Amino acid sequence: MDIKKPFVIGTGIMGSGVGQLCAQQGYDVTLVDISDDIVGKAREKVKTGLNRRVEKGKITQEDMESVLSRMNWSTDMDQARECDFVVEAISENIDVKKEVFAKLDSICSPETILASNTTALSVSEIASATLRPDKVIGMHFFNPAVIMKLVEIIRGEKTSEDTIAVTKKFAEDLGKVPIATAKEAPAGIVSRVLAGMLNEAAAVYADGIASPQDIDEAMKLGAGLPMGPLALIDMIGLDIHLAKMETLYAKLKDERYRPPEIIRKMIADGKLGRKAGEGFYKY
Ligand SMILES: NC(=O)c1ccc[n+]([C@@H]2O[C@H](COP(=O)([O-])OP(=O)(O)OC[C@H]3O[C@@H](n4cnc5c(N)ncnc54)[C@H](O)[C@@H]3O)[C@@H](O)[C@H]2O)c1
Repeated sequence: MDIKKPFVIGTGIMGSGVGQLCAQQGYDVTLVDISDDIVGKAREKVKTGLNRRVEKGKITQEDMESVLSRMNWSTDMDQARECDFVVEAISENIDVKKEVFAKLDSICSPETILASNTTALSVSEIASATLRPDKVIGMHFFNPAVIMKLVEIIRGEKTSEDTIAVTKKFAEDLGKVPIATAKEAPAGIVSRVLAGMLNEAAAVYADGIASPQDIDEAMKLGAGLPMGPLALIDMIGLDIHLAKMETLYAKLKDERYRPPEIIRKMIADGKLGRKAGEGFYKY
């Protein structure tokens, strides 16, 4: 089965990126969020990003217009009825995700695959909110979704082989390289491996050992990383990072994943990272 009409729910960092990617690859995509204000801001952000690429001569004005014309922005979830593949990219909260999946299950055609971009929540638990657990799957894009090559495919207990095959093919049609885990695993491969390092970088900062700039520069120069760990937490969003660490800690019961207090304090101070204008750095 080839996907013809993708639907993205959640137009934050990841949803907008996945929607833009779909449009760039020639799909007509619908993107939905909870308010006109949020949807309007997301559309403006995508437009600004594309405009910058036009200014740099990377794409033409016509390319930009044709990508934007393939992105249908809405607050009406019922539009999922017309779609054959849903990518959910809403907040990393199991109750909210289950509620949305139950609603999608009642709206979408029985053939439609419901994929979650969750970082660390259980695909089986999300699937339990639907009557089609065989068609629920984890499809984990990386940030920025337009650029990062990897898509991790995470199966739930009841995800069918057919659903895995269609999702892998869709990832490839989006120009990505899909890598599937052999079994359900919180945070898959990359986010779990990275989690310990990000935690430790925040702890090094909290211990007063070095400034964010020096920690990031040291990790770039000494560990060959393309970007520093604290800049990466800012890019991910501290709230999303904390939600992932809490899930990993609860599920794996390993001290390496216990989130340091500094992250909670920064969130309480509104320092959510790039999206809020301040995190470890000011933007
Ligand atoms: N930020 C990252 O680097 C990253 C990377 C990979 C995966 N993820 C995962 O992707 C998902 C989204 O993360 P994000 O960083 O884009 O979050 P975000 O906070 O930027 O955006 C979430 C969006 O979901 C919307 N939303 C919440 N409830 C909704 C509902 N009921 N219906 C429709 N929209 C709703 C919010 O209004 C918001 O616009 C999370 O599960 C996260 O773990 C994030």
